Amino acid sequence: MNDAVRIRGIAERDWTAIAALEARAYTRLGLTEGQAALRARRDTSPDTCFALHLGGRLGGYALALPYPHGAYPGLGRAGRATAPTRNLHLHDLVIAPELRRRGLARKLLRHLFTAARSHAYDHVSLVSVGGTEAFWSARGFTPHPGVVTPGEYGANAVYMSLSLEVSGVRVPCP
Ligand SMILES: CC(C)(COP(=O)(O)OP(=O)(O)OC[C@H]1O[C@@H](n2cnc3c(N)ncnc32)[C@H](O)[C@@H]1OP(=O)(O)O)[C@@H](O)C(=O)NCCC(=O)NCCS
Repeated sequence: MNDAVRIRGIAERDWTAIAALEARAYTRLGLTEGQAALRARRDTSPDTCFALHLGGRLGGYALALPYPHGAYPGLGRAGRATAPTRNLHLHDLVIAPELRRRGLARKLLRHLFTAARSHAYDHVSLVSVGGTEAFWSARGFTPHPGVVTPGEYGANAVYMSLSLEVSGVRVPCP
């Protein structure tokens, strides 16, 4: 089996696997958006959305789009920035359960940060869900409590952000 990790833009043939991975990750949290909403995120910003392949199959994905700092897209709705912004919002990043804890999310994040810099973004934001705040803190994101409407992204959702100018050493790649 070819175990090389490949990260590239999302192709049409990736969508069935991406939607399945998203459902596996978020159904238990009541946060599943479904394929149409995920496609709308990618269509908003194809250059900052990626599929990770390992051993010839989809192992993870990341969907990021421009969005004003301090705001976030509504779940299941195709929200997009209405004015230019240098903040890139990482709406979703998922690694397949059987492939976790091997550094693949870090690898995907490094790829995303490189793309973000090359497109002149200066910050990356996200809404941490499902108890992942410690994961994002360890990657250099800082919390901004009170931004997310309680319950909108499930329990314990926290808006977090990172300056790309100081993030270079925070995502070591194994
Ligand atoms: C969060 C997620 C993306 C992490 O992916 P991963 O490939 O396992 O992450 P990595 O292997 O790159 O993790 C590296 C480090 O993060 C830690 N980590 C992983 N998941 C964590 C979590 N949920 N909470 C705290 N730390 C975590 C690992 O222990 C590891 O730390 P170490 O190097 O100090 O041992 C993955 O668990 C996932 O897809 N979860 C479901 C979807 C999700 O919640 N996405 C985030 C939405 S905001």
